[in-house]
Amino acid sequence: MSSPTTTRDSFHSRLGFILAAAGSAIGLGNIWGFPTQAANNGGGAFLFVYLIVTILLAVPALYAEVYIGNQAQKNPVSALMQACGHRFKKTGRNAGIIGLVGAMMMLSFYTIVAGWMLAHALSALFELFGIIDIANWLSTSSTLRNIIFTPIFIVLGAFIIHQGVHAGIERWSGRLMPVLLLMLIGLVIYILQQDGAQEGVALYLIPDFNQVLEPKLIISAMGQAFFSLSIGVGGMMVYGSYMKKGQDIGKLVLSIAALDTFIAFLAGLLIIPALFVAQHAGQEVFSEGNLIGEGQLIFQILPSLFASMGSVGLIVSFSFFTLLSIAALTSTISSTEVPVSYLVEDRNINRKHATWLVSAMVLIASMILIAFFDLLFGLVIQLLTTILQPLMSLFYFIVVGWVWQRGNQLTDIAQLQQDRKLKAFGFYLRYFCPILLIIVFINVAF
Ligand code: PFF
Repeated sequence: MSSPTTTRDSFHSRLGFILAAAGSAIGLGNIWGFPTQAANNGGGAFLFVYLIVTILLAVPALYAEVYIGNQAQKNPVSALMQACGHRFKKTGRNAGIIGLVGAMMMLSFYTIVAGWMLAHALSALFELFGIIDIANWLSTSSTLRNIIFTPIFIVLGAFIIHQGVHAGIERWSGRLMPVLLLMLIGLVIYILQQDGAQEGVALYLIPDFNQVLEPKLIISAMGQAFFSLSIGVGGMMVYGSYMKKGQDIGKLVLSIAALDTFIAFLAGLLIIPALFVAQHAGQEVFSEGNLIGEGQLIFQILPSLFASMGSVGLIVSFSFFTLLSIAALTSTISSTEVPVSYLVEDRNINRKHATWLVSAMVLIASMILIAFFDLLFGLVIQLLTTILQPLMSLFYFIVVGWVWQRGNQLTDIAQLQQDRKLKAFGFYLRYFCPILLIIVFINVAF
């Protein structure tokens, strides 16, 4: 049933993979998720744990995910099935389907937040043209705004994805990321000169070591790290499968992780001081140590930061939110590609139909989230990032770690076993990563 490898679309270069994978990793998780979580979890303590968890667990998990996809050269459901070998075929398939559900969960809330970004970009544009009423409406959160902008965003993503891997994904991904990076750096420099910023910098950079062992903090940091590197739903696996075999995956993974973490770090260095600048100016930002408004606050803080720049601020605001919308788009694409590749390869549906079918399902899911926003929005994010993604990573560790030893399906690794460094890494994936993950889980449960 699955189409032969020769007809499979793929990235045309190694750089194509890097750009697409970085495009997947860098998104709302970095600029909205990370600073919000850091602000809610003690700033420096969160940053500290986040870095540790990224190095110890998220990077190896990313490696395992890309590796499985690259070896199998198939969509995540078939790839996991193959990686599990004949005996555990069914388990592999079920895990693949769970990942697919995770990708849909991700899309259901992600498209809503991305819609907020689009609305804010347009708001700046309307304000620039003096149409203040509409600008105000666009920058104020409301159900109607969600109902309009979520579908707009979903359609934009579908439009790119149905063009295929090379023409669509490779060409679009990562194009504007250097601009986003420069803009973040510029904004950080600006905010650090404002009154009150120093307090934010101190909170962000100086960890309170009494907090670093708090289970809630550790699990949030871990979930955030997995989410930020797009691990556990098959998005990176499918990109790995579009890359030719025989690449140095370790190096690729390290560069993607470094870039992603650097952008998250910068976003924190922008937003946490910005919160304190706003507080200094009399705005209420925290209540009982938590950010007000479930992560929506940064959508008030950022516009007031841009407003403080005078009329240039409107252009900055427009560009910033446009770039964020694009960053969100490249992340959405990789998640959408998970069910799409499955439908195309295993269910024989053509790419166009598969794309629109998945988009329609995402639309329904996001509308349900909008209808029961208070109940579902935070819950879906939490279920995905703190349970589903880490559990899927555990599964990847077991698959790669143990199959590595036995050397059955994932053949390249078995051949490379003579290499001492790789052998040590194999040991690390096989024992250390799963045990560490299980300890974190037990720690949270009790
Ligand atoms: N890594 C993306 C972000 O930080 O915004 C989110 C993401 C994309 C998660 C793709 C999962 C995924 F498959």
